[in-house]
Amino acid sequence: MSARTVIKGGTIVTADRSYDADVAIEGGKIVEIGQNLSGGKVLDAEGCYVMPGGIDPHVHLEMPFMGTHSADDFESGTRAGLAGGTTMVVDFCLPSPGQSMLEALEAWHAKSKRACADYSFHMAVTWWSEQIFDEMQMVVDHGINSFKHFMAYKGALMVEDDELFDSFRRCAAIGALPMVHAENGDVVATMQQKLLADGITGPEGHGMSRPPEVEGEATNRAIMIADMAGVPLYVVHTSCEQAHEAIRRARQKGMRVYGEPLIQHLVLDESEYRNPSWDHAAQRVMSPPFRDEANQQSLWAGLQAGSLQVVATDHCAFSIEQKRYGIEDFTKIPNGTGGLEDRMPVLWTEGVNTGRLTPNEFVAATSTNIAKILNIYPQKGAVLEGADADLVVWDPEKTKVISAETQQSVVEYNVFEGREVKGLPRYTLSRGEIAVDNGTVCATAGHGKFVTRAPYPEVNKALSKWKEVTAPRKVVRDPENMPACV
Ligand code: URP
Ligand code: ZN
Ligand code: ZN
Ligand code: ZN
Repeated sequence: MSARTVIKGGTIVTADRSYDADVAIEGGKIVEIGQNLSGGKVLDAEGCYVMPGGIDPHVHLEMPFMGTHSADDFESGTRAGLAGGTTMVVDFCLPSPGQSMLEALEAWHAKSKRACADYSFHMAVTWWSEQIFDEMQMVVDHGINSFKHFMAYKGALMVEDDELFDSFRRCAAIGALPMVHAENGDVVATMQQKLLADGITGPEGHGMSRPPEVEGEATNRAIMIADMAGVPLYVVHTSCEQAHEAIRRARQKGMRVYGEPLIQHLVLDESEYRNPSWDHAAQRVMSPPFRDEANQQSLWAGLQAGSLQVVATDHCAFSIEQKRYGIEDFTKIPNGTGGLEDRMPVLWTEGVNTGRLTPNEFVAATSTNIAKILNIYPQKGAVLEGADADLVVWDPEKTKVISAETQQSVVEYNVFEGREVKGLPRYTLSRGEIAVDNGTVCATAGHGKFVTRAPYPEVNKALSKWKEVTAPRKVVRDPENMPACV
């Protein structure tokens, strides 16, 4: 039997067009797109859309954080992704303060060995020194072209403005993309202490300590620093109008600033923190917190207008027991929620089925835009000959009710519990291997490979050229031949 697989009878949906064609796969790659293709194994895509597999650029698997580790590891996390049509994730490598980036990178490579789907890492700048300055180039040489900066989590991951500026300038020099978690960590820390002193110890205090202002302020600040440094900027988990407005304004001025709403922020709101159940509210504690309806509308508008480009999850799941570390003090509730399995079905249901997004815009927001931003397009994020066969055969009629009972994540609850979704994978393929077959997850641990990402995407090249053209230059005056002052 031929080692060729053919996806037959579907409609190919990419970020820029939709058309009917079959897709042939061999050796993990798309080898042919056309009519009436044949091959050894045939997957029926009748009534389905054949789309690039999702890329979730923001996950934390087995993340050391707030005195514990997030519960899903690379195996359960990537299984969850595949179950929902996501074929690649990007995790964050986090050196502890004082630790070498290269040493942390080795640890991340070790723990990702059992991944079921392809993955990559962003490197976090968690402290600053000449060593880090030097290591950033080596990290780029190891296939990582993005560096994350936390402007929040004071006393832990947070970096100061001078460090941001130094690091952003270094990113410009080595062709890398800086990213920020934009919240004013000093203001959050003070607000937390004030709320605790006022007797607000429950999870509702989490949202109160991190209002949209702290996110809007930090987003503006990061944008200004990136502009001064001459680099593009990627703002993770953009959750509110104030941050979106800063990104919109920067883009209107010609700056390359990208914003990433999370599926949680698009559909869940701040009322979750007022739930009479402590567990329910604590399970929804993440940063930034869920917002009100006006902020949610702003995020949808951004996806429609193109001022926000990517929908991610920030998947960082903690068990009920872990969440209860903060039973007496909301600042000790581990921050994070799951979402990897649900991102695409929930976005399709709330985005495409409502007419907010076209199927092509859905593909752009879940896959193609981030592939371009991270410089892995068209290896990923494309249905093209020569691209990796990371594909999802999407059945727009398939429904389910989301439940922790049937999910792949190891945690005992789901923030989308009870929500009905319409639009699910019939098949998910990871480099040609069938990982989901009609609702059954048959992914293989260890199949996932590290995806290297080269530096200097086109935007970085254009920006450094522009910075050079517009660099400050001295006025050369000839004292021997100076005209008279008029
Ligand atoms: O609450 C969150 N978002 N937890 C994960 C870490 C981060 O800030 O992205
Ligand atoms: Zn964050
Ligand atoms: Zn509940
Ligand atoms: Zn995160």
